Amino acid sequence: MSISQELRSQVMAQMQGAMALDVAYIGVANPIFSTLAEMGKAVPDELSAKTGLDKGYLNRWCDAAFAFGLLDEADGKFQLTELGKAFVPEALGTLMPFAVQSVLSAHMAERTATLIRSGERPGEKVLAERESILHLFGPMLEAMFAGLFEQQILPNVPVYNETDKKGGLAVDLGCGNGWYLRRMALRFPHLRGIGLDGFEESINHAARLAKRDGVDNRLKFMKGDIYKFTVNEPVDLIAMNRALHHVWDEKENVFRLFKEHLKDGGSAVIWEPNWPKNRSDLRDPSRRGMAFQNLGEHVQGNHFLRPEEVEAEFHRVGMKTNVYLFVNGNEAVIVGRK
Ligand SMILES: C[S@@+](CC[C@H](N)C(=O)[O-])C[C@H]1O[C@@H](n2cnc3c(N)ncnc32)[C@H](O)[C@@H]1O
Repeated sequence: MSISQELRSQVMAQMQGAMALDVAYIGVANPIFSTLAEMGKAVPDELSAKTGLDKGYLNRWCDAAFAFGLLDEADGKFQLTELGKAFVPEALGTLMPFAVQSVLSAHMAERTATLIRSGERPGEKVLAERESILHLFGPMLEAMFAGLFEQQILPNVPVYNETDKKGGLAVDLGCGNGWYLRRMALRFPHLRGIGLDGFEESINHAARLAKRDGVDNRLKFMKGDIYKFTVNEPVDLIAMNRALHHVWDEKENVFRLFKEHLKDGGSAVIWEPNWPKNRSDLRDPSRRGMAFQNLGEHVQGNHFLRPEEVEAEFHRVGMKTNVYLFVNGNEAVIVGRK
C-alpha cells in the first residue's frame, strides 16, 4: 500500500496546526502575548525583563512564534501579528481557548493511551496533572461560553429575568471561576448568588473576580461538594453548567437536592453539550471536538448526556421541562420547573 501525497500533505498541515497552537499555548500560559500587546515591540531580553521569564527559553519561543506567524520581527524586535494579537487572553473574542484545548487534548490523549490498557478511570485529578493547565480552566471556559450566555441564552431563556425581578437567589453548582453568576449579577441588579465548587483554587479565583467587578456584595463563593450542598433559604434558580455530567452517577441524589432546595415555581437550569443521538452527527466539524472531549470525560469517570436523559430525571421528581438549543443544536439548556 502506498500513502498518497495528498493524504501526507493533509496530515502534515494538521500537525502544523497542532504545533502552532502548542506554541501559542506557551504564550497564553505565561503573560507573553499580554506583555507584547502592552509593549508593542521588544527584543527577547526586554521581554524577559518585563515578564521575569527565562531569556534562553524566550529566545527560542520567539523563533517558533515567528515561524508560525504569531510574531513579526524587524531589527531584532518582535511584535504581535494579527494572529498573535488574537491569542491575547484579555482580547475580546480571544482565541486563547483553542490553544488551551489543544494542549489539554494532548494530555488526555497521552493518558488515554495507557489507561485504555487497564480500563482504569482516575477521575478529575487528571486535570491537575499539568500544572500550567489547571489555572487556565476558568478563563478558558469563560472565554468560550460567556459571550454565548450573554448574547443568546440570557435573552431567550426567561428564568433569569424572573429571578432578578424577585430579588431572588441563584445557586451555581460546580461554578468554576464563577463567571456565570458574575455575568448575571452585572446584568441583573437585584439578583443574589451562591457559587459552589469542589476546587478551592476556583473558589478563591471566583471571589477575587467578583470583587474586581464590584458584585461581591451580592455573590458568595464556597468550597464544597455538590452532593452535600445545602442553603438556609429556598432557592429561585439552581444552575449547573457543564457540571451535571460530572455527578451523573449520583443523579437521584442531585435531582432530589434540586427539588428540596427550590421554591415552588423555582427552576433548575442545566447547560450541557448536546450529545447527538446518531453517531453520524459526530462527523460534523462543529461536533468533532465534543467527540474528543467525551474521551477525556471517560478518563474522568463521566460521559456527555442527551437532553432527553436530563428531562427524564426532572420528570421522575415531578418537575416540568423545557429544552432550548443553541449553536447549531450543539449546546442544550434544559430548564426544570418545580
Ligand atoms: C467543566 S467545569 C464547569 C465549570 C463552570 N460551571 C463553567 O461553566 O465554567 C465542571 C466543574 O464542576 C466542579 N465539580 C465537579 N464535581 C463536583 C462536585 N462533586 N462537587 C463540587 N464541584 C464539582 C468541578 O470542580 C468543575 O469546576
